[in-house]
Amino acid sequence: MKGRESAYRIVPGQPALIPDLLRLQRTLNDHLPSPAGPEGVLFGEALTWEDLQVIAEADELTVCLFEERVVGYYLLDNYSRSRALIWHRRMVANCVDLGVLPALHAISLRAQCVVDARHQRQGVSRRLLAGLLTQLKGRYDSLAGTISTFNPTLPAHQRLGWQIRATFGDAHLLLHELK
Ligand SMILES: CC(C)(COP(=O)(O)OP(=O)(O)OC[C@H]1O[C@@H](n2cnc3c(N)ncnc32)[C@H](O)[C@@H]1OP(=O)(O)O)[C@@H](O)C(=O)NCCC(=O)NCCS
Repeated sequence: MKGRESAYRIVPGQPALIPDLLRLQRTLNDHLPSPAGPEGVLFGEALTWEDLQVIAEADELTVCLFEERVVGYYLLDNYSRSRALIWHRRMVANCVDLGVLPALHAISLRAQCVVDARHQRQGVSRRLLAGLLTQLKGRYDSLAGTISTFNPTLPAHQRLGWQIRATFGDAHLLLHELK
C-alpha cells in the first residue's frame, strides 16, 4: 500500500464517472464495518444517479482516481432529492436558531466522503477535501454534515477539521469552518 501516493489523481467529478461513484457507494454499505448501525456508515439513503449528476454540475464533487478508476469521492449535497437532505436542512436551521451554528453564514448542508477500503489510510480523504475546497472557491463559510454515532471513522473526520456541534439521536452534527 505504501508508495502509492503519487499514483492518486484528485480531479473534479464529471457526470461520466457517476457509474463508478454509485458502485463505490454501494460497495461501502455492502461491507459494513461493525458496528455500523441500522443505516450503515453512510447515513441516510443512497444518492441516486440524478442526485450525483446535479451535484457534479454544481461543481461540488471531487474524486480520486487510481489507475483511471474512482477509488474515493468527497461531495457536498445541497441539491439532491434525498430525504436526508431535507432532514439536514431542518437540523441546520434549528441549530442556527439555537445559536449552535453561526447565523448569517453560508452553510453547505451535507457532506459525504467515501474511500475504497483498499485505499484507506493513504491520505486520500485529506487530499479529496483539499481539492473540494479549491473547487468551491470560497462559496461557503462553513460545511455541515452528519456522521452516525456508530461510525468508527469519526476520529478521521476530526483530524480533517470537522467538529461535533450537536447530537441528534444516533447522528452527530459536524461543522467544518472555512472562514
Ligand atoms: C472516513 C474515510 C473517508 C477516511 O478516508 P481515508 O482516505 O482513509 O483518510 P486519510 O488517510 O486521508 O486520513 C485522514 C486522517 O484521519 C486519520 N484516520 C483515517 N482513518 C482513520 C480511522 N479509521 N480511525 C482513526 N483515524 C483515522 C488519518 O490518520 C488522518 O489523520 P493524519 O493525516 O493527521 O494522520 C474512510 O475511512 C471511509 O471511506 N470510510 C467509510 C465511509 C465513511 O464512513 N464516510 C463518512 C460518512 S460521510
